[in-house]
Amino acid sequence: MMPSRIALFISGRGSNMTAIAEHIRDGSLSAEIAFVAADREGAPGIETARTLGLPTVVCSYAELGRERAERALAAAVHEHLASWIVLAGFMRVLSASFVHEFAERIVNIHPSLLPAFPGSEAIRQAWDYGVKVTGVTVHLVDERVDHGPILAQAAVPIEENDTPARLEERIHCVEHDLYWRCLKDLLEGRFTKTGRRRMRREHP
Ligand code: GAR
Repeated sequence: MMPSRIALFISGRGSNMTAIAEHIRDGSLSAEIAFVAADREGAPGIETARTLGLPTVVCSYAELGRERAERALAAAVHEHLASWIVLAGFMRVLSASFVHEFAERIVNIHPSLLPAFPGSEAIRQAWDYGVKVTGVTVHLVDERVDHGPILAQAAVPIEENDTPARLEERIHCVEHDLYWRCLKDLLEGRFTKTGRRRMRREHP
């Protein structure tokens, strides 16, 4: 079977992108990175993508505005024949029309146990709220923020004498392990669908 082509969208340092790229390189995830896109010039992850030899696209929301930036992103997805869009720290809300164009083909990772703490600064929100357990969610993207059907979650307990920085570090470690495993299941067609529920089955 031909590996699926994925487009990775980032805004920041791109550590999730790098983790996915490493698992593709070592053969544990069968996929091809069609390109890496950023919403702004100077996203550190774009430099990393270049050093990894990956094709890159920058669609500056600041210069183009959301509508034109999204049109450029959609054109890149078609041009590079990507069948999945993988958001890896992409800090823009995609419009309903973009989401509909790629319905059930956009995946996101979020650093909390959704539906708790959607939006930005989720780790800080959970910390400030004083929860004892937080975590990571991988979900399909729908037209609402951090809301689509959940594919996978992993819990991260807050420890005695924890600090926000240490919690963040542990959450990132969990993200780097959870995302590629979940993508593997998704690309291999292992999820069944009943309403909002997505269940993983052993055999596709
Ligand atoms: C990750 O923690 C990801 O879950 C989060 O941004 C970070 C990006 O880190 N995404 C969101 O908060 C989306 N709502 P990275 O650039 O090092 O992969």
